[in-house]
Amino acid sequence: MLKAKTITIANQKGGTGKTTSAYNLAHALSQENKKVLLVDFDPQGNLSLCFGIEQPDQLAISMCNVLDALMSDHPLPAEQEYIHHQDNIDLIPSNIELSVTEINLRDEMGSEKTLATLLEPMKELYDYILIDTNPSLGLLTINALAASDSVLIPVNPQLWSATGLTQLLNIIVKVKKRINPRITIEGILMTMCDPRTNLYKEAYKLVQDYYGEIIRIFSSQIPLSVKVGEANFYSQSLMTYLPKSKVTAAYQNLAKELMQHEYAQASNHS
Ligand SMILES: Nc1ncnc2c1ncn2[C@@H]1O[C@H](COP(=O)(O)OP(=O)(O)O)[C@@H](O)[C@H]1O
Ligand SMILES: [Mg+2]
Repeated sequence: MLKAKTITIANQKGGTGKTTSAYNLAHALSQENKKVLLVDFDPQGNLSLCFGIEQPDQLAISMCNVLDALMSDHPLPAEQEYIHHQDNIDLIPSNIELSVTEINLRDEMGSEKTLATLLEPMKELYDYILIDTNPSLGLLTINALAASDSVLIPVNPQLWSATGLTQLLNIIVKVKKRINPRITIEGILMTMCDPRTNLYKEAYKLVQDYYGEIIRIFSSQIPLSVKVGEANFYSQSLMTYLPKSKVTAAYQNLAKELMQHEYAQASNHS
């Protein structure tokens, strides 16, 4: 029986490749015959856009309605109203209204577990659930962490910040202690890499020096490629848009690496 491994893709900086990685990793895992649910948990709805939902803000039913129903003990909408399909992949979309839900979550007892409560019964239906988060360490990201087995952290060498990463790791440790003891760190994924540049070399060395001994740094690295923006623009995965490119192969390798992965414990960092 399937019992999904749930992975949050998080980094409180915008533009580190979270959404692109969630989307393309889902497709790469699907090519390996894994059944994947994508969860857009960012009010910007970028993952929903990638998935081909042209106007997430016009959706009659999205993540916020499902969470609102859960919080108010109302019956949930029917699954076919909020689960979308592309190829063999499913998606729960989000839109700007999720930012209102985030505010409502603040007043709710035990609200950190709202998303976990929604996803728990769905784990029987999938091999992987990938949650794309918004660029913040607020209640939405904490909900995602509370629902997850592990965290994948995309790092863009151009935006490298040791302080930023330490803040994220501190939150993960807190969530592990207080809400979700099973959470671990899946690994750091280097994205938008241009190995010829000094900036890349410098950032990669710093990531290794700071975290190499306590956190897995995926040997698959995602190259910088203008094709990524194009594929996102056309709401196509890299596997469909450009099956033979290096950046496609990188996400395919990441999927394989992930499947073989032994988890690095978040507690190693505490
Ligand atoms: N490997 C890559 N090469 C070039 N551009 C990329 C790559 N990955 C992502 N991008 C682009 O960078 C921008 C930010 O990526 P995105 O996945 O939306 O990051 P985040 O979700 O962390 O904000 C997008 O415009 C995306 O098309
Ligand atoms: Mg994003």
